[in-house]
Amino acid sequence: MKFSKKLITWYLQNKREMPWRETKNPYHIWLSEIILQQTRVAQGLPYYMSFTNTFPTVFDLAKASEEEVLKLWQGLGYYSRARNLHETAIHVANELNGVFPDTYKDLLKLKGVGDYTASAIASICYKEAVPVVDGNVYRVLSRYFGINTPINSTKGIREFKELAIELMDHEEPSDYNQAIMEFGALQCKPKSPYCIICPLNDGCEALKKGEVELLPVKLKKQKIKKRYFNYLIFSIQGEQTIMQQRVGNGIWKGLYEFPLIESEKTDIDSIVSNEVFCNMVQDNPYEVTLYKEKPVVHKLSHQHLYTRFFIVKVDAIPKIDEAQKVVACIKVHTYPVPILLGNFIDSFFE
Ligand code: ADE
Repeated sequence: MKFSKKLITWYLQNKREMPWRETKNPYHIWLSEIILQQTRVAQGLPYYMSFTNTFPTVFDLAKASEEEVLKLWQGLGYYSRARNLHETAIHVANELNGVFPDTYKDLLKLKGVGDYTASAIASICYKEAVPVVDGNVYRVLSRYFGINTPINSTKGIREFKELAIELMDHEEPSDYNQAIMEFGALQCKPKSPYCIICPLNDGCEALKKGEVELLPVKLKKQKIKKRYFNYLIFSIQGEQTIMQQRVGNGIWKGLYEFPLIESEKTDIDSIVSNEVFCNMVQDNPYEVTLYKEKPVVHKLSHQHLYTRFFIVKVDAIPKIDEAQKVVACIKVHTYPVPILLGNFIDSFFE
């Protein structure tokens, strides 16, 4: 038997009875799929019930206040989804006379409806042969076909979509799509799936190679590191400042900057008690002001630099090291600097 037919056979014997499986009404299917993007089938059920009871038709949902919609959505998280849901209901009710679009292509035009939801609605309500690819589908396909391309890479997304299109059952798109998702949820589970009783175990590549628990492969997102940069903008009698050249192998190697204190805290007290500051100012009088309260956030691929500028007014030239130099304020703009500092220089020195 074909892969898709085996899945459908399994589904018809094992599917959970759910109210959205008793209807082809696109309003109800749309509601259920938006909710199920946020949570699992069992946890989504009470939300589905309260939405359909409170708003039996798309016109009722359209007439509701945003607050009412957000209240019913409470606990599901990602509240922009609830706002999109409401906006789309208003659009369908007012602009489309309450009639949902009936093709994958037109469904995609609705706010909050992406590839997954459009495929689900088009296949379930209108029998269009468009495959859904959600987390369950990635798991089933990667294991059965032994694919270790990361599912969150551009290559992986394309590869799995192409395979899903190829496997699509053109006679029963609705049952097939729901079957593969339900199969992923109940049989081909993320942890310790019970492969001995799996109806697909004779053709499963991952089972053959002992790689069931290793698939699917997902690239770990690198955590973005937050760094706090505090630049000291010396104003020596309003005429001169201090700049230094960056050393080391960073992306800013060779560029100029102002004396820098990197720290966790960025309040004035911790800056003026910092060793770098004290060494430079020594015993001379100074006056420090924060240029702007709000830090400038400079986003690099793996780190975000929260940058603040402290204006340090002094009369005496601060003590400097060999990488630092005294620069006339009118010459500051002639030095090559990172763009983050270029913007500051344009607004402060010119
Ligand atoms: N997960 C999200 N939508 C689903 C559906 N229609 N059937 C099974 N699992 C799902």
